[in-house]
Amino acid sequence: MLDELDPDTARALLEWQLEMGADEAIGDVPVDRFAAAEPDARPASDAPAPATAADPAQEAEPDPVAVARAAVAGAADLAALEAALGAFAHCELKKGARHTVFADGNPQARVMIIGEAPGREEDRAGLPFVGRAGQLLDRMFVAIGMARDAPDPARALYITNILPWRPPQNRKPERAEIAMLMPFMERHVALAAPDIIVLMGNTPCAGILGREGITRLRGQWMRALERPVLPMFHPAYLLRNPAAKREAWADLLALQDQLGSPA
Ligand code: URA
Repeated sequence: MLDELDPDTARALLEWQLEMGADEAIGDVPVDRFAAAEPDARPASDAPAPATAADPAQEAEPDPVAVARAAVAGAADLAALEAALGAFAHCELKKGARHTVFADGNPQARVMIIGEAPGREEDRAGLPFVGRAGQLLDRMFVAIGMARDAPDPARALYITNILPWRPPQNRKPERAEIAMLMPFMERHVALAAPDIIVLMGNTPCAGILGREGITRLRGQWMRALERPVLPMFHPAYLLRNPAAKREAWADLLALQDQLGSPA
């Protein structure tokens, strides 16, 4: 059948395979690699150039953290930062994501919430915390009079994630992924300039505090990125462990207290 393929069909088939993730061509007939390793009998002029002769400039991978730092340096406002993030091509997660999930809510809010990464619903919608965990998050904050769409900065929330792209199968973000996206996070916080940051779960604690262990960290006020920071249980954890809502409620009251607003 393959002999009968016209060039256009053959190209379409190849493109389809590339889209499906194929990155290697494997023949029908096995290759004896020991025999292939025998010295090449062809004259030197015909032999392929040895791999080691490659241009060193082409081999050097750019440091993604340095690239990210350079990308955020010119971002003077949130729109420019979102554009810079959308153009950042050094994180593999981007290739599997439908959207770059930047933020939601009121950028003037006194409270900035930082979560882990978009899940399936967030990747589809292009907005953070819109799935089940996000709905719980909204209900938790409504209980202390706060909402992402509140026009008053004292009542509003500004919500984002450490990673703007959904990891495959919602796997835990890797250290290298967090590290390369931290320059964006730091600039995001500097531009939004919230009075208080709430870290939802371990991943933002790892990125922003350099520490994990949310069971011990939650409810403890810390300082990072030049402002008070409160780690809390992630709402997805609360969905799985409803008994922990008691601690989450205590943390919400502590936040309200810090903001100086009555219940
Ligand atoms: N979990 C997160 O940490 N962030 C989201 O946006 C959704 C779920």
